[in-house]
Amino acid sequence: MVTVSAPGKVYLFGEHAVVYGEPAVPCAISRRATVTVRERDDNSLIVNAKDLSLEGFTVEYSGGINAQPDIDVSEHLVEAAMAYIETAISQVREHTNRPNAGVEVTIESNLPLGAGLGSSAAVVVSTIKGGITELGGTISDEKLAQRAYQVEHIVQDGRASRADTFCSTMGGAVRVEGDDCNQLDAPTLPFIVGYDGGSGDTRELVSMVQSLKDEYSFAAETISTIGDIVRTGESLIQTGQMNELGDLMNFNHGLLSALGVSSRTLDSMVWAAREAGADGAKLTGAGGSGCIVALDDSDQTLTALSYNPECEQAFRAELDTDGVVIES
Ligand code: PMV
Repeated sequence: MVTVSAPGKVYLFGEHAVVYGEPAVPCAISRRATVTVRERDDNSLIVNAKDLSLEGFTVEYSGGINAQPDIDVSEHLVEAAMAYIETAISQVREHTNRPNAGVEVTIESNLPLGAGLGSSAAVVVSTIKGGITELGGTISDEKLAQRAYQVEHIVQDGRASRADTFCSTMGGAVRVEGDDCNQLDAPTLPFIVGYDGGSGDTRELVSMVQSLKDEYSFAAETISTIGDIVRTGESLIQTGQMNELGDLMNFNHGLLSALGVSSRTLDSMVWAAREAGADGAKLTGAGGSGCIVALDDSDQTLTALSYNPECEQAFRAELDTDGVVIES
């Protein structure tokens, strides 16, 4: 039996634009998915996902992937989660050359599903690493990130960037531009996350931005302006200039709103953070609903978000320099 964990992430800059070849800077955070893999005598796949999210949003599931889980969350989220795990196990079987290997996968996570914190990437990275290790194999971090990206690419119908999976594998702040992925030197960034209790449909939101880009030149220009923000922002990360980084996060949020991927609840949390004195705040991930990220090393943003009626949960999440880790 092997237990592996991998971090979730926030986007400091660049979501959506990264799909069209612009750079993005996701940062791993100190919230993780933990996956335990145990080899089975038969060739079946059993998934136990008792805790796929934050409080009040729990998936109770045990059985083969075609069995019906007993759940109180939307079916598309559970179907998506199961598709990620099944595809991750296909990668394990291929890598170890054990096409009929049976495994039991148990997932624990304090990352909300589909809320912009990279829960699927953290689960996929941990499942592949745990599965390969349990079956007696090894894999480099570069190959692991590549296999995890393949899983997202397959499950998300070819619309996925390498950002989430590379960041979750390597940890820390990373820069992703097309196939080019690098780690960045970054100081401890004081992230505060606000979560509205909802989730966005990444596939739908990406396709909406694509249609907007095809129809209106302003949308294409907005995407390339987001790229300019990332290029400016990445040089500030190393020097830890919080005020300037925060301003760029605010600009980035405005441009994401122009592309139609923000929402009333996300905007409300962003404004609550800014008014509380955060250096900057923006939505993180695909948008629609889910999480915002703010920069604030005081407690004021956390307090303001915890009193904001649109915010179901707020927490501090420092930059996590550890990527995927074998726990035991
Ligand atoms: O919400 P998430 O964590 O799935 O992030 C989506 C980020 C996008 O840029 C919108 C899509 C992608 O694959 O990069």
